[in-house]
This record gives sequence, structure tokens and C-alpha cells, in this order.
Amino acid sequence: MAEQTGGDPLFESHDPIFDRKELLHVGHVPDEDRIVGRDDEIQSVAAEVGAITRGDPPNNVMIYGKTGTGKSLISRHVATRAQDAAQGNDIDCGVLYVDCSEANTETRTTRQLALSLKEQTEYQQNIPLRGVGTMEYYQHIWSILGDCFDAVIVILDEIDKLDNSNVLMQLSRAREARKTDAYIGVIGISNKVQYRETLDERIDSSFGHRELFFHPYDASQLREIMRNREDAFQPAVLEDGTIELCAALAAKKHGDARKAIEILKEAGELARRIGSETVSEDHIQQAQEVAEINRIEELTSGATVHAKLALYALASCIITGERETYKTREVYERYVGICELVATDPITENGLYRQLKEQAFLGVIESEKTGGGRSQGSYLLHRLVTDPKHIVKAGRRDTSLEELPTYDRLRETSPSTGNRDIDLTSFS
Ligand SMILES: Nc1ncnc2c1ncn2[C@@H]1O[C@H](COP(=O)(O)OP(=O)(O)OP(=O)(O)O)[C@@H](O)[C@H]1O
Ligand SMILES: [Mg+2]
Repeated sequence: MAEQTGGDPLFESHDPIFDRKELLHVGHVPDEDRIVGRDDEIQSVAAEVGAITRGDPPNNVMIYGKTGTGKSLISRHVATRAQDAAQGNDIDCGVLYVDCSEANTETRTTRQLALSLKEQTEYQQNIPLRGVGTMEYYQHIWSILGDCFDAVIVILDEIDKLDNSNVLMQLSRAREARKTDAYIGVIGISNKVQYRETLDERIDSSFGHRELFFHPYDASQLREIMRNREDAFQPAVLEDGTIELCAALAAKKHGDARKAIEILKEAGELARRIGSETVSEDHIQQAQEVAEINRIEELTSGATVHAKLALYALASCIITGERETYKTREVYERYVGICELVATDPITENGLYRQLKEQAFLGVIESEKTGGGRSQGSYLLHRLVTDPKHIVKAGRRDTSLEELPTYDRLRETSPSTGNRDIDLTSFS
């Protein structure tokens, strides 16, 4: 599509690489016929909330899965379809979406729920943006639901970021507590499976949720997801094999559809920057490096400094040692040395173990239990899922950790350079 640039030659009037770049934007919601390989998941979510479309009470559902596995997309997709289907049966069904990583308190969440309900109706009362508490927002929510809706589907995305789970309890008990007659179906989404353990028992039982797990995509699904967005590019810009390579790289690393799409976009940007007319496999490789460091940084951005140090410690063991896997104890010893470098008090070995477990779920590392022989008992061996170079780079982007040795510095002490027994403090 030619872009309007007002005839100023400073700005190109034609993008040589991209045609419909918006197809590659992170928040872009693809049409139904561009959703790939999630039929079973769509069915399962529909089975939980679908009763709403027949005027019956829905089930609440929790969706777990690693990042980029289509949780947000599928939830929105099913909720919108349920809304349409309900409409067809003369049932007024609303859909509310809250990103709890932004609305991370009960007040923010209820405010957003109230405001989006107001937006979808003719509700006349003013809903103040500040200066009022949770109770008032709940009042608005119940009265709009009572006046205008038979049912509502509430998607609470990144629900683990909420500082307490009161909203869940209020929503799941609203009918029982006679706050509203409308049926409420909650879809909670989290990429932390441990989240369920943090829900206290009272809330857990009243929420009474079913659980679904979304799995990472394989290479052929990723290929198709990208093929479906090929028209983001000008014709013949993508060289043969680029999508295949991109899918293979992303599947090998993490099966994350968002990253696969980002790599493709980044490769296009790169090609444009260097004035290339096509996107080549080489551009994909380079884009993958950048995307991987960004991914690690994003995954660990919410992590404590100790989790970052733990990852850095494991990466540095791998870079300076001869093995790919290390025991918790070995990582811990390295970690303690590294804490000294950045003048931080170390946490306990058990604390470090828990940090590593969390990273294992996020998909940054893999931990495997190994029998150490009859007398030694079993122990965990940790490996990095990604190149240790990326961990070191991503870790050093944290301003409090920029003093840590660079990848090249660590490499200098690797066994291949003969300097086996390194003293990390010598770097400072
Ligand atoms: N099955 C699919 N078909 C087409 N596009 C997909 C599919 N799954 C995911 N995508 C695209 O990949 C990106 C990531 O998907 P989504 O945001 O749903 O992941 P997520 O599981 O919610 O990840 P996170 O836990 O990081 O929020 C989106 O741009 C989405 O459109
Ligand atoms: Mg999401």
C-alpha cells in the first residue's frame, strides 16, 4: 500500500519491504481463518463458558501455558464468538477484558471493569476515575450488569500479577450473594502454573475453576501461523526458505508464536535498514539473536535480582566450564561469588533453588532430576534452554548488574583458553 508522505522526498512514499505491517504487530488479533492449530483449545474454552449462549450458568476456567502459546488470542476469540452466539439467542452477553499486569490492584481492576461496562451500555451515572474505593466500583458493576446484561464473560489476563484475588471471589460469588442476576463466566490466564498454589483455599473453592494447559507450537504450526501473515510483506520480498528457517528456529527454542512473528518483523526491519530488496535467511538468523536477548529480558524483567543472578551464575558456569549442566550446589557457589561482585547479600541455597524452579517454568532453563547413586541420593541438574551469551547480555542490561563480566570476559577464562579455575572476583 502506498503511504501518503505529502510529497516530501525526505520520506519514502513506498515501503520496499512491508505492505501490511500491522499484521506483524504484537497486539494484532488475526481473523478466525488465520488462527492455526488451536481447534481443541478453542473447543475446550467454549465448552467451559459456552453455557452462557444458552442462558445457562458458565464454568470459570483458568488457562495456563508458556508465553506466546495463544492464550490471550484464543480467550478473546472464544469470548467474542460466545457473545455473538448469545445475541442470536436474544441473550445480552458482555465481554470484558482486563490486562492485570497493568490493572494490578483490586481497585484498578474493578475500575476498568466498571468503565468498560459503561462504555458498552447507555449507563448514565458518572464513574469517577480517582478518589473512590473498590466498593463504589463494585456498585457500578452490579448495577450495570443488573440493568443491561443477562451474562458477561470476564477475561482476567496475566491474573498472577494481581496483588490479591478478591476480584475472583467477588465475581464468582456475585449471584450467590444476590449482587446481580447476570451469569458471570471468568477466564483467568497465567503463564505461571504455580499461581494456583497461591490462591487461598477459600477463593479456590468458590472460584471452582477448570484448568486448561496450552502447549508450545511445533515448527509446522509456526510455519503456518507465519504463512498466514505473509501478506505483511511486499510480494517476492521473503526469500524462499525464510519462513521455514524462522519457524524451525522458534520451535527449537520455545514454540512461542509471538517471538516467531517478531523475528520475521525484525528481519524485515533489518533488510530495510541495510537497503536490501529481499529478506534472506541471514537476516532471519541475525533477527533471531536480537529477539532472543529481548525475550530473555522480557521473561526475567519481573524476576528478582536474585533470579537474574542465578541465571547469570548458571550461564557463567557453562561458559567457563566444560559441561552443559550444573547441580544446584554448583550454581549456588558461583552465585555467592557473583553476589560479592555486585555487593548484594546472597539468599539461601534453598531460596536459589526456588528461583531456578521458577525460571524452569518460564522456559529459560530446564531442570532434570538425576539419581546420584544409592548413597548420594538424587539431585537436580540445570541447563540453559538458550545460548548462555544471551543470558549474560540480557542480565547486564539490568542497571544494577552492569558491573558483571561480559560474555567475552567470561570466555577468556574458559577451559579452551587454559584458564580453568577462575576467580570471579578477579574481574571486578
Ligand atoms: N494459533 C495461532 N494462530 C495465529 N496466530 C497466533 C496463534 N497463537 C498465537 N498467535 C499470535 O502470536 C502472538 C502471541 O499470542 P498470545 O498473545 O495469544 O500469546 P499468550 O499465550 O497470551 O502469551 P503471553 O503469556 O506472553 O501473554 C499474537 O500476536 C497472536 O496473534
Ligand atoms: Mg497473553
